[in-house]
Amino acid sequence: MILIVGGTGALGSAAARLFLQRGRKVRIMTRDPQKAEALKKLGADIIQGDLRDKASLARACDHVEGVLAAAHSIMGRGAAASSKVDSLGHKWLINAAKEAGVRHFVYTSAFGAAPTHPAQFYRIKHEVEQYLQHSHLAYTILRPTAFMDSHAHMLIGQPILEKGKVSLFGAGEAPRNFVAAHDVAQFALLALNMPQMAGKVIEVGGPENWTNMEVVRLYERLAGRQAKVSHVPLGALRVMAPLVRPFHPGLSQVMRTSIWFDTTDQTFDPGQTLQKYPIPLIKLEDWVEKQVSSELDSEPAVAS
Ligand SMILES: NC(=O)c1ccc[n+]([C@@H]2O[C@H](COP(=O)([O-])OP(=O)(O)OC[C@H]3O[C@@H](n4cnc5c(N)ncnc54)[C@H](OP(=O)(O)O)[C@@H]3O)[C@@H](O)[C@H]2O)c1
Repeated sequence: MILIVGGTGALGSAAARLFLQRGRKVRIMTRDPQKAEALKKLGADIIQGDLRDKASLARACDHVEGVLAAAHSIMGRGAAASSKVDSLGHKWLINAAKEAGVRHFVYTSAFGAAPTHPAQFYRIKHEVEQYLQHSHLAYTILRPTAFMDSHAHMLIGQPILEKGKVSLFGAGEAPRNFVAAHDVAQFALLALNMPQMAGKVIEVGGPENWTNMEVVRLYERLAGRQAKVSHVPLGALRVMAPLVRPFHPGLSQVMRTSIWFDTTDQTFDPGQTLQKYPIPLIKLEDWVEKQVSSELDSEPAVAS
């Protein structure tokens, strides 16, 4: 049985579908089992749990051989703050997995995770990587670039398709790498299937680099409509990030991360990773084409 923590999210649900297709038994841990109804119908076992609740983590890890940690709370506030869920909660999950005798733990970190990163979220990712590496559990750490599902579609494509407009943090002219959550799930499955992947830290990215503005143009072209694009300048983000921090630390982090995305090299060449692990990766254009046609197909027909 594989436990997926964050099984209702973009990566977790893609992983659950993939693992089930490949005949693995899957348990999804979620705070709200109703969110996992579709996966339950596909055969997943669903368990209610919360990274802030130690007892629920022990229950979730019971009789589990592998764990995929695919949860996060970057926008969380108060009791759901990133420091509680992403830091302490993940350390508790690692402890629970160890106590339950889990054989392999796959942790989803992030491309760029480092102790000196300007955003706390990436510093926490690094801290949890270290905690796992010292846990004596067999582990694999995945460091994916930005998911197409969230950074291309949810933040750029969806507003264009639904409202004909989008607001970008920064100029959006810096090239960066996007990867499909489904492709990250393929690496997670490989890690759980291959004992040789234990002890490895793997950077996972898509086949090409794109700027946010290029993604805007791609959606416009594929949807056949022009979008109104507005920009929040970096100067404004620099002033706003510390001001909003006491009220909304998550939003403050997203602002800091956006400044970092817009001012540092976020490109990635998957060549080296693919040499070792030859996994077919979807191109952004093909992935977006699928999203656009499924959204346009689901639009109600306009009465003439
Ligand atoms: N999105 C990206 O571009 C990106 C890039 C690099 C790395 N990553 C990492 O990849 C992983 C998956 O990200 P994602 O974008 O797929 O996530 P997502 O779609 O935003 O989903 C977040 C998941 O976290 C779970 N969660 C939140 N708070 C929780 C808590 N207190 N206890 C238990 N579960 C909790 C949610 O589960 P319920 O609501 O069902 O409880 C949900 O399934 C994360 O570790 C993320 O940091 C993401």
